[in-house]
Amino acid sequence: MKKILIATEKPFAAAAVSQIKSTIEEAGYAFELLEKYTDKSELIAAAKTADAMIIRSDKATREVLEATDTLKVIVRAGAGYDNIDLQAATDKGIVAMNTPGQNSNAVAELALGMMVMMARNQYNGKAGTELKGKKLGIHAYGNVGRYVAAIAQGFGMEVFAFDPFVEKEAIEKDGVKVVGSVEELYSSCQYLSLHIPANDKTKQSIGFDLLSSMPAGAVLVNTARKEVINEDELLKVMENRTDFIYISDIAPDNKAIFAEKYEGRHFFTPKKMGAQTAEANINAGVAGVKQIIDFFENGNTQFQVN
Ligand code: 3PG
Repeated sequence: MKKILIATEKPFAAAAVSQIKSTIEEAGYAFELLEKYTDKSELIAAAKTADAMIIRSDKATREVLEATDTLKVIVRAGAGYDNIDLQAATDKGIVAMNTPGQNSNAVAELALGMMVMMARNQYNGKAGTELKGKKLGIHAYGNVGRYVAAIAQGFGMEVFAFDPFVEKEAIEKDGVKVVGSVEELYSSCQYLSLHIPANDKTKQSIGFDLLSSMPAGAVLVNTARKEVINEDELLKVMENRTDFIYISDIAPDNKAIFAEKYEGRHFFTPKKMGAQTAEANINAGVAGVKQIIDFFENGNTQFQVN
């Protein structure tokens, strides 16, 4: 019987684990669970005998992938697969997949939720501001970007987007204005929501020039990856502009400086929380299982990323 391992340092919601388990078992596969592990040796040991593996932000490094001779497919239950060494997977003949769109609404809700929280001064009792009528720029119009746009429109925000990989018409049909350059997006929008993936081209790409061009009362919302920000340059902007606010789903490496110098102008989740809902966990986890079964039984590689 083929074994599907769920390896999640940050566990799925209990309701998701039980649906994942029953989906696996009903299809005639064996279910194995490794949660809250504290050392990569536990992941390596578990992967060694698995035929398929589902992970979240867990690091599927070359060391992990090279240690297993049974693994045929690894699924990142989520969107970003920057945590999988794709070359190592390919070298080992392992198919790597993601589950695009399955957790996007949860991430978008968090992005808007954090915007409201900061607009209301983290609910400290002082008068805040409203999102209505403010300009929101969406940097990359993928699954999360689309949900962010729809929710923001519900708040009455004016929504703009830049994404060279998405047809202008597809964005405009959502009532979102398309701008011609990333520079134009940042310089025209008070709120900026980041949705670019972390890869060799995007890492460290959001820096001083873009951020300092944002209008007064600038709010940068990062539910993407901390690696896409040039943190030293962001600090320079925080230092130069007392109106600049940075909100991120997971703290930057220099979070101690933010805590010491920029109180009230930042908010960081203690752990990546964007996809941390029962619904997102069920959607992404069960989709991952179905993709694995479809791969083993029909050779379907629709969601392959390597
Ligand atoms: C994703 O890329 O799908 C999100 O960042 C979610 O990551 P998580 O599953 O580790 O919460």
